[in-house]
Amino acid sequence: MRGSLGAEIVRTLAGVAATRRLGRSIAAVLVPGDLVLLSGALGAGKTQLAAALGAGLGAEGRLTSPTFALVHEHAARRAPLVHADFYRLRGEGLARDVVRLGLRERRAEGAVVVVEWGDDAIAVLGGSPAVAVRLEIAGARERVAFVSGPRVGDIV
Ligand SMILES: Nc1ncnc2c1ncn2[C@@H]1O[C@H](COP(=O)(O)OP(=O)(O)O)[C@@H](O)[C@H]1O
Ligand SMILES: [Mg+2]
Repeated sequence: MRGSLGAEIVRTLAGVAATRRLGRSIAAVLVPGDLVLLSGALGAGKTQLAAALGAGLGAEGRLTSPTFALVHEHAARRAPLVHADFYRLRGEGLARDVVRLGLRERRAEGAVVVVEWGDDAIAVLGGSPAVAVRLEIAGARERVAFVSGPRVGDIV
């Protein structure tokens, strides 16, 4: 299905390993300056997927949840990786708080910016997400990923 927003991939993820594979496949199509949005309920696997993106980008160190720090930055082989979580910022004032984090500027400097709970902050993140992944919980270990964005057709 191809529309103005590009294609959408729907993938059933039977366990964490499948989520990791998807993350690595997505990482392969990312370029410096890209914005990646991860959405879905608490525990859906956004941070797991972010960690796999980091692995695919060759990030140093293990990615952990930036729920409290808001932003973690990792040196990586292919591009610096900035991993953010706006759960604590959601609601009124989100845009103002996100502007202060300077993530739009980090993109301009060539970082890949991966954001959990960022769907309401796209404009202040510099717009044009390369990839958006929505994760749905389908069982104890099963998730369904809805992957969209202009480069989705390149994901294997
Ligand atoms: N298929 C799966 N993909 C991702 N996480 C899974 C999967 N199955 C079970 N899990 C578990 O669900 C939890 C997801 O946590 P996390 O990635 O922190 O979620 P979120 O960041 O969306 O709140 C982890 O404890 C993980 O082990
Ligand atoms: Mg998380």
